[in-house]
Amino acid sequence: MSQRGEGVDFLVPGLKAREHFPFYTEGPGGCYLDSAATAQRPKVVIDSLCRTLIHHNANVHRGAYRLSAEASDLYDNARLIVARYIGARSERSIVFVRGATEGVNLVARSTEHLFKQGDVILLSLLEHHSNIVPWQMLAKRKGLKVVFADITDDGQLNVKDFENKLREYKPALVAITQLANSLGTVTPIEDVVRAAHEAGARVLVDGAQGAAHLGVNVEALGCDYYVFSGHKIYGPTGIGVLYARPERLEEMEPFQGGGDMISYVSVEGFGCADIPQRFEAGTPAFPEAIALGAAIEFVNRFSREEMRAHEKSLVTAAVDMLRAEQGITLYGPASVGGEQATVVSFSIDTVHPHDFATIADTHNVQIRAGNHCAMPTLRRLGVQATVRMSFGVYSCQSDLTAVQSAIREARAMFGR
Ligand SMILES: Cc1ncc(COP(=O)(O)O)c(C=O)c1O
Repeated sequence: MSQRGEGVDFLVPGLKAREHFPFYTEGPGGCYLDSAATAQRPKVVIDSLCRTLIHHNANVHRGAYRLSAEASDLYDNARLIVARYIGARSERSIVFVRGATEGVNLVARSTEHLFKQGDVILLSLLEHHSNIVPWQMLAKRKGLKVVFADITDDGQLNVKDFENKLREYKPALVAITQLANSLGTVTPIEDVVRAAHEAGARVLVDGAQGAAHLGVNVEALGCDYYVFSGHKIYGPTGIGVLYARPERLEEMEPFQGGGDMISYVSVEGFGCADIPQRFEAGTPAFPEAIALGAAIEFVNRFSREEMRAHEKSLVTAAVDMLRAEQGITLYGPASVGGEQATVVSFSIDTVHPHDFATIADTHNVQIRAGNHCAMPTLRRLGVQATVRMSFGVYSCQSDLTAVQSAIREARAMFGR
């Protein structure tokens, strides 16, 4: 997946990478362990946003003047960068949306006419609410059934159950995550897509975590739709991507009407613009889209292998540290020695996760506590909330040492 360019200086994850993040060099810094929620932004992304707003600020695809043409070129180029990053054959497959959530909602709305009453949508119990609720809303509108493939006690997709449900329900659509934000579980996505297609289903892959931490080649994967958010891949908020195969985009109906998505408008009606503009009504978040391109170019300066190895070593070190502490319960594949990516979820016997996050804050640790927008996952594992640490290219061993101190203080405070 790595696309390191000639003559570009390579970057290494870890302490050195912090030099590129003003959060560490100018901002509050700290042991930021919530990258699964939103990543810190490198200087190149912040600079890109500022540069567009200062030097290229004109509405895209509208003005006949040079400034607008420049902004349009930069916006179109960002689409190309995204397409290359995820291995899409054509930038016509890339729709800019506000984030993964909007991407899923757009597919759910725009493919509504492809479902008939009684059709089944198959999800997994690993999904973020963003990949559940839009389907439940669609099911309510159209009289469909939403079915969940089970997970194992250690938070892996139960492949047997998934295959059985494919056979039993013959779903019209399978929507599944590549990497679960609550537990760090990596799903066997290639097998899932293949099996779902063999069963006749279209497949949406939620790449909100996967796009940043695993990488993807959508052509090789063969999925019908892939969604991700800019802010989890070191880019800005308010921008995300829906990839869909061109034939899938052609069969989708526009969800929102307005400027930019039309070829003409008369008092009798309107004609749709070509794909993908048809799905981008209104003035787009072009500074954010351009900055997303800058974020992807930043990510491309790392080797994918090194990024994964870095995050893997942090997961291993975190799990070892937690195992050595008293009263800790681990969740997810690592709890039984399995592999998981970039996320470690745990609880402390005598300390509520929210109390722990507050104590950790006094150690300058920003850590997440709660259900991680994955209530069905946590419920299946018999827990209401966990503490979650999640890593980025700037995460370091010292972050884990700070968590360890916070655990010891919390247990001393709340009783052992
Ligand atoms: C796996 C997964 N899917 C979807 C989302 C939704 O992303 P956003 O809130 O950026 O739309 C998230 C956010 O945490 C996520 O982790």
